[in-house]
Amino acid sequence: MTSRIAILGSGEVGSTIAYSLILNPVAGEILLVDPKEEVRDAQVQDLSDATFHGDTTTQVRAGTHKEAGQCDIIVITAGAAQKKGESRTDLVGRNLKILGSAIEDMKPFRKDSIIVLVSNPVDILTYFAQKMSGLPKDQVIGSGTFLDSARLRGILAQKCGVAASSIEAYVLGEHGDSQMVAWSHASVGGVPLELALPDTSINKSAIAEETKKKAAAIMENKGATAYGIGGVTASICKSILFDEGSVRPLSHYQDDMKVCLSMPVVLGRKGVVRQIPMKLSESEKNEVEESAKSLREIIEDVEK
Ligand code: LAC
Repeated sequence: MTSRIAILGSGEVGSTIAYSLILNPVAGEILLVDPKEEVRDAQVQDLSDATFHGDTTTQVRAGTHKEAGQCDIIVITAGAAQKKGESRTDLVGRNLKILGSAIEDMKPFRKDSIIVLVSNPVDILTYFAQKMSGLPKDQVIGSGTFLDSARLRGILAQKCGVAASSIEAYVLGEHGDSQMVAWSHASVGGVPLELALPDTSINKSAIAEETKKKAAAIMENKGATAYGIGGVTASICKSILFDEGSVRPLSHYQDDMKVCLSMPVVLGRKGVVRQIPMKLSESEKNEVEESAKSLREIIEDVEK
């Protein structure tokens, strides 16, 4: 059976995710789902031209919400994007409405479908997508702080003069202002950061702030981000479809905190296979709880 990924929203982010999935062939078929049919069809045409050179087996076509509900993976990018100066949580009202109607239009879902939220505020939308879809909690995830963690790796790689792939570092919690860096788990080639950087002092709070503000800095000059989120979302889809068991910081439901936020999980065809328990310092635990608290307040506000 051909593996199929549906992408809701054929704007800059959705089409970049599709393009990234074509360059690293993951699925047999990509369906673009978007009520703006002219844009959707033009994106399908343009993306298809990237498949005709013969090096990829992926086919791209327009799809319906009903077809999306029967796909292996449903990536949700539909919704308003942040404008300059807007926070991700400013989008919650508009994007929840769009999410709710999309989920209704997709029902009934295939039993083993995995929903990957990308639209912001991703942690809030992941929480409500799971409730509205009725899919098991481990099958509804959000890109969360995977992109922030990639950004942090890039900054640390530059400071340490090593490849980003040799840096292990996690941003956890909200994909947003209350995110935190688990410095106690940062390492260079498996060596704890402090030991790996004996003669180079790094300003951790400045690096955490630079990571947190990177999206806003990009938006200031080009209006939106697309390639970072496109690459990490394609990586998430690959880990799921190939049942890789990769460990990623992704947004998903936390039983103890009653919200969706990012912690390291093992990712496979069933979605979240299990969470990797991290031993955080007391101050790190407090930061994650602060993040959960700010997300709970938004959820309670929505559910009032
Ligand atoms: C960013 C968007 C995806 O951080 O929230 O680039």
